[in-house]
Amino acid sequence: MTSQTWNAENYRQHAGFVAVLGSPLLDLLGPVDGQDILDLGCGDGVLTEQIQARGARVVGADGSPEMVAATMAKGIPAEVADGHALPFERRFDAVFSNAALHWMTRPDDVLRSVARALRPGGRFVAEMGGAGNVAAEIVALHVAAAEFGLDARALHPWYFPSPAEQKDRLEAAGFTVRSIDLIPRPTPLPTGMLNWLRTFAGPWTEHLPADRREPFLERVEGMLAPALRDGRGHWTADYVRLRFEAVLV
Ligand code: BEZ
Repeated sequence: MTSQTWNAENYRQHAGFVAVLGSPLLDLLGPVDGQDILDLGCGDGVLTEQIQARGARVVGADGSPEMVAATMAKGIPAEVADGHALPFERRFDAVFSNAALHWMTRPDDVLRSVARALRPGGRFVAEMGGAGNVAAEIVALHVAAAEFGLDARALHPWYFPSPAEQKDRLEAAGFTVRSIDLIPRPTPLPTGMLNWLRTFAGPWTEHLPADRREPFLERVEGMLAPALRDGRGHWTADYVRLRFEAVLV
């Protein structure tokens, strides 16, 4: 079993771009005046706040108590909840999710749980890592894991589906898919690869003794430099997003 712990300030500093790049997803969600919206994996609530500003009654849900506290500090109701088993029934007009679903490794449970939370005709509007997302980082993490005596296959914490796979799963859970697109999005890392790894690679490093964690991350960074660092020392992550809109029938 692997887990990721979150620190709201650390996330803001090294991954604040995640919410900035998620704002086109708000446009896909569309006008929300008076609607009940769940933000699944609300994180520190940056996009949740924007949904609220558009006039929705929004509730945040996140597996991390610290992230839920950060959302509530913005004056938004939020709950600690597991996306695989949400505690809601026919409660929302839409479920919104940005950059969270790929952390939930039992996708069919998540989709059934989202379907239960929606009213009939409700929409699921989401963006997540898609097939090929952070492929270079994954290869480097697997190589370093083998070198450091970790079982990479057992630790692998992410689910990055193709459009065809996710469409099949959505339909099996009772949704009709309106749109589903794979979007390559090379993403500059403002504070570099090592900080990105420190922010997101917890499920790998937590299995190492404390004094082996930085050497592990530096080894990963070293493998990635020829591919993802430019001549000026700037890093770009090979993000690929999967964005979809589905309606509960
Ligand atoms: C992503 O948002 O694509 C991502 C986040 C953390 C780890 C891997 C990928």
